[in-house]
Amino acid sequence: MRIVLLGPPGAGKGTQAVRIAGEFGLPHISTGDIFRENVKSQTELGAEAQAYMDRGDLVPDSVVNRMVADRLERADCGHGFLLDGYPRTVPQAEELERVLDERGTPLDAVLRFEIEEDELFARLTRRAELEGRTDDTSTVIANRLHVYRTQTAPLEAFYAQRDLLRDVEAAGSVDEVTAHAMKVLPSR
Ligand code: AP5
Repeated sequence: MRIVLLGPPGAGKGTQAVRIAGEFGLPHISTGDIFRENVKSQTELGAEAQAYMDRGDLVPDSVVNRMVADRLERADCGHGFLLDGYPRTVPQAEELERVLDERGTPLDAVLRFEIEEDELFARLTRRAELEGRTDDTSTVIANRLHVYRTQTAPLEAFYAQRDLLRDVEAAGSVDEVTAHAMKVLPSR
């Protein structure tokens, strides 16, 4: 099973990714988590990504594409993977398609998490109080939402054209959203 989770910041991609990956025994690949780990351990990649992340801008495609292609080479991706937060631009989606076509392992589904912006703000503001993530300030949240609308939302049409897009109602409790997601996933 090869799955992509698509949705604005705060839609619950990371939360649901853990559950879906657990259910299907897939590696959960979160580009945001990989960048945050690199920032924390002060690697070169972390230094490159940090300024973009702090502003809520996207890290350049060339950096992200290389990082994901390397990750997909690892043995644990042999039976599938769940991508959380990648691709996020049309060039990233084209590159992922190229890499997967080359391996003869196309995507099975792209889950689009749908939710009102007011709820996203509320969730991220709550997380800022609990966890203090540096990109959860109101100015940066607003920019992340703008970046989603302008650079990532075009992927909805990209994947709809390929008949891969599945809508998931992302408001409601964590359990309810998991149930919605499970319903639209292809059967094993
Ligand atoms: P990333 O970490 O991917 O951030 P994001 O997409 O903004 O996602 P979030 O983690 O904010 O939201 P989420 O949808 O995962 O929701 P979550 O489950 O956490 O990326 C961070 C940065 O890295 C980017 O801005 C960019 O700079 C860079 N980057 C990453 N990927 C990139 C790429 N491909 N290209 C270029 N740059 C890239 O939930 C949010 C909160 O809500 C949590 O507190 C959670 O507990 C809570 N919550 C979840 N579900 C529910 C629910 N049902 N009800 C109530 N609360 C809930």
